[in-house]
Amino acid sequence: MQTIQPLFDKYCYSCHGDEKQKGGVQISALNPDFVNGYDAPQWHAILDMINSGEMPPPKEHQLSTEERRAVVDWLTNGIATAKEMKKAQANR
Ligand code: HEC
Repeated sequence: MQTIQPLFDKYCYSCHGDEKQKGGVQISALNPDFVNGYDAPQWHAILDMINSGEMPPPKEHQLSTEERRAVVDWLTNGIATAKEMKKAQANR
């Protein structure tokens, strides 16, 4: 999260931070702990928006290819790990 948070700060918080919450989305308030937090569905929506290219909005600053990959990897791995943990817990 230390490397990822500044990217959300740079590209998303102007519309989804402490000051503004466009579409009711406040990324700065989400728990980056996918396993113990309860924000996995929101992170999933964020991953979808970035993957589909819908966010950031086309007229805004876009993430570089490396930045986009770093964010997508972080989200994908985090969500996958959380799913595995939940499954392991359910099987106990
Ligand atoms: C210039 C303002 C702006 C920026 C920058 C921006 N967004 Fe948004 N975002 C919006 C608006 C407006 C909406 C609500 C309307 C819509 O869905 O198009 C929205 C909606 C969303 C939603 C909810 C979509 C849904 O279907 O409920 C998500 C998730 C999201 N943004 C993620 C992001 C992420 C991640 C970034 C940064 C990579 C980002 N946004 C950057 C303006 C912005």
